[in-house]
Amino acid sequence: MPAVSLSDQIVRVLREAQRVVVLTGAGVSAESGVPSFRDKQTGLWEKFDAAELATPSAFHRDPALVWGWYEWRRMLVLRAEPNPAHRAIAVMAEHVPRLTLITQNVDDLHERAGSRQLLHLHGELARPYCESCRQPYGLPVGIPQLPAHGTRIQPPRCAACGGRVRPGVVWFGESLPDREWLAAVEATQHCDLFLSVGTSSLVQPAAGLMHMATRAAAVTVQINPNPTDVDHLFAYAVRGRAGAVLAALVSQTWNLPYAN
Ligand code: OAD
Repeated sequence: MPAVSLSDQIVRVLREAQRVVVLTGAGVSAESGVPSFRDKQTGLWEKFDAAELATPSAFHRDPALVWGWYEWRRMLVLRAEPNPAHRAIAVMAEHVPRLTLITQNVDDLHERAGSRQLLHLHGELARPYCESCRQPYGLPVGIPQLPAHGTRIQPPRCAACGGRVRPGVVWFGESLPDREWLAAVEATQHCDLFLSVGTSSLVQPAAGLMHMATRAAAVTVQINPNPTDVDHLFAYAVRGRAGAVLAALVSQTWNLPYAN
């Protein structure tokens, strides 16, 4: 039996929900070995300076440093596997009439666990594109050698126009992709359950979605092993790791075998 105690009310709300929004952050991939951003000691922004790696001006100043860093992160993800949290969300989508998965993550672990049509608010590591003509760049297939972080790698050139290829992620100071953001807002404004999993809720505008859910009278649930600045804003703040909590939630809601 799962060693996670969940409120019966969360289970009941999920079982009866027609429209569910799941918003995920880096914590959902932490159990796959993909580092988050702000966890003490292991978080990327604890070790690296975001201003030197995750802004348009950083890329223009030192494209090889930035491209090398994103290649290092892309390789980490290629070597990682989806964990029980990714799998539980994919199973949940099979049982809920309408589930919208919104992620701030740039990895593809939700897709590899079977989730379809998710909204990537912050772009994707696997989809670099030309900064001049925006043509997608086809990455070589296979898993190349993992570059050490700090390795400078010159970004490739666009086959169509010769422009410089950039990572397919949203950087600080850039707007979120319109289609994804509008779809995320629309789903949140009409959901009856909003599940926030593995995010510090510190980065806007994604963090604002939970306020929209509250205004829409949705039941709001946060899953996180650590306290966040917004614990008090959720109807339920479940303290635990995403893998164990989501696996327990899915198994208890639909009487499925516990698949952690
Ligand atoms: P953060 O690193 O800010 O937060 C990760 C959260 O996951 C923390 O609150 C952890 O406590 C929690 N966590 C850690 N392990 C967990 C586990 N096993 N299960 C559940 N939760 C766990 O990451 P995000 O909130 O995703 O943006 O960060 C938001 C954005 O800030 C990122 O998308 C990125 C970053 O700068 C861009 O790069 C544009």
